[in-house]
Amino acid sequence: MSPHNPPDPFDPAQLGPVRLRNRIIKAATSEGRSPDGLVTQDLIDFHVAYARGGVGLTTVAYCCVSPEGASAPGQILMTRNAVPGLQRLTEAVHAEGAAISAQLGHAGPVASKKITGVTAMAPSRMVNPTALEYCRAISRREIAGVVECFADAAEIAVDSGADSTPSNCTSATIICPARS
Ligand SMILES: Cc1cc2nc3c(=O)[nH]c(=O)nc-3n(C[C@H](O)[C@H](O)[C@H](O)COP(=O)(O)O)c2cc1C
Repeated sequence: MSPHNPPDPFDPAQLGPVRLRNRIIKAATSEGRSPDGLVTQDLIDFHVAYARGGVGLTTVAYCCVSPEGASAPGQILMTRNAVPGLQRLTEAVHAEGAAISAQLGHAGPVASKKITGVTAMAPSRMVNPTALEYCRAISRREIAGVVECFADAAEIAVDSGADSTPSNCTSATIICPARS
């Protein structure tokens, strides 16, 4: 592939081990359709509509790897309880010929205390840029805990039939300030 000769967006693509029917990917857009942290029929209908419309891959936005990592209401919480609903979702999307990814996220400094009930964690003490409240510095033990939560959530996503598990590394979430 060369920048002067880009592939046709409707050509199939190989994304690691996953074969996509085309290069059109529906980006993560904070669906907020999971009031109890679980997949709802509303969320299934939302993603099936994109799959039926022809995307190669649809992205389930911001699946929280742990309860204190929530940034907004209505996000999926990646526990074993979520597996049956996630399976229904991935099966419905696959039935339309599209692939599906589960975006994993931990909000870190931009976690909302109103939702989580706990003070947000950041690489160092700082002001939460969205809630304008102080966050506290994360400890080494807690960093290891968050890493473990990402690994467990990825396993849950794969067990539920997701084709890929991108992580949210932007929007000031926990991986973003840790990188800079
Ligand atoms: C309403 C809305 C919600 C979004 N939610 C997420 C999200 O949950 N996770 C994420 O990584 N990006 C999220 N984004 C960012 C989009 O996925 C996308 O990266 C951004 O809109 C830029 O894409 P564009 O350059 O094609 O417009 C959101 C964007 C919008 C407009």
